[in-house]
Amino acid sequence: MATRIGIITAGGDSPGLNAAIRGVGKAALARGMEVIGFRDGFRGLAEDSRLRLDRRALAGILTTGGTVLGTGRDKPHRMEIDGHLRDMCGVIARNCKRNKLDALVCIGGGGTNKNALRLIEQGLNVITLPKTIDNDIALTEATIGFDTALGIATEAIDRLHSTAHSHHRIIIAEVMGHRAGWLALGAGIAGGADVILLPEIPYDVKQVAAAIRRRKSHGSNFSIVAVAEGAVSKVDATEFESAARHKANAKTQLERQRAKTQLTALAARHSGNTLRLSKQLEELTRLEARVTILGYLQRGGTPSAADRLLATRLGTMCVELINDKVFGVMVAARGDSAKPVPIAEVAGRLKLVPPNHPWIESARRVGTSLGD
Ligand code: F6P
Repeated sequence: MATRIGIITAGGDSPGLNAAIRGVGKAALARGMEVIGFRDGFRGLAEDSRLRLDRRALAGILTTGGTVLGTGRDKPHRMEIDGHLRDMCGVIARNCKRNKLDALVCIGGGGTNKNALRLIEQGLNVITLPKTIDNDIALTEATIGFDTALGIATEAIDRLHSTAHSHHRIIIAEVMGHRAGWLALGAGIAGGADVILLPEIPYDVKQVAAAIRRRKSHGSNFSIVAVAEGAVSKVDATEFESAARHKANAKTQLERQRAKTQLTALAARHSGNTLRLSKQLEELTRLEARVTILGYLQRGGTPSAADRLLATRLGTMCVELINDKVFGVMVAARGDSAKPVPIAEVAGRLKLVPPNHPWIESARRVGTSLGD
């Protein structure tokens, strides 16, 4: 009987997902395997919502954004079904067996790897592909979607220059990235931002204002600030750390609950961080400031050539691994090649920007302020 592969895309969408589906699908069909897609991430596996991925379904999707399978942030062990949270891991395992799947390919980010591990514990042959615009997955040099998002954010910063310059304003561009600063750092450097603020390097708003005033004193009375959505001030970072410590060291249920409530309150306050930063900079520099939140534009549209190439490389390598019966691994990008790494070593680990990363050093060398 032909080998049967199930495939899902899970977590936030990112450009290049369809190229990855096509890479897996075409390579599998070429080997005489069958491919079944499941809709909307882990939910499609739980609800057995299928889509046959034959030649016709895979045609013409290399260049398209989004995912033809749909995606979602459902977790197999805590899925909302009819208004109740249910553990669907067993149901998913049964559905995979009923569909006679020899392997399940999960294309996703950090959350997907954690969820994949839960399905491995159910005895499924899982293999993952790394995708996220955040570039924050451990043990892979690249993730599908990052290059396209980097291009979009860079172009946005390019365009903000002329308007900032014309109005003599500070323009703050908020860049996605969750708790990692790769996207803001890369786009900030490539787009020539004057200040780049990252989650990994808590900033001092007075230092940011000083950098902008320095530019003004040299005749440049406008500035571009690229701020990662997860960037925090030094003051807020201390509060977050203290609440996290309290939660980790809590001796009673009450202490733990208090720390969790404090963390939730801090996170809620942080959601308005970029707007607050804009007000603070106006007060400290006496320049007008405006905010542009790039948001979901960074995830949409046509994938770049580099993302199509990466998705095709990793997707086709995934089928080679399935053919060799190598399971429980993520297909990681290593230079021009790909390497299987245990999902158990990836799940729960974030790849953050090291403070001495060469990109940071380059940014500092061209005079960019990191706000520290
Ligand atoms: O992980 C990709 C990402 O776009 C992050 O940069 C961002 O923090 C998050 O997803 C947004 O999530 P959602 O799609 O659930 O709003």
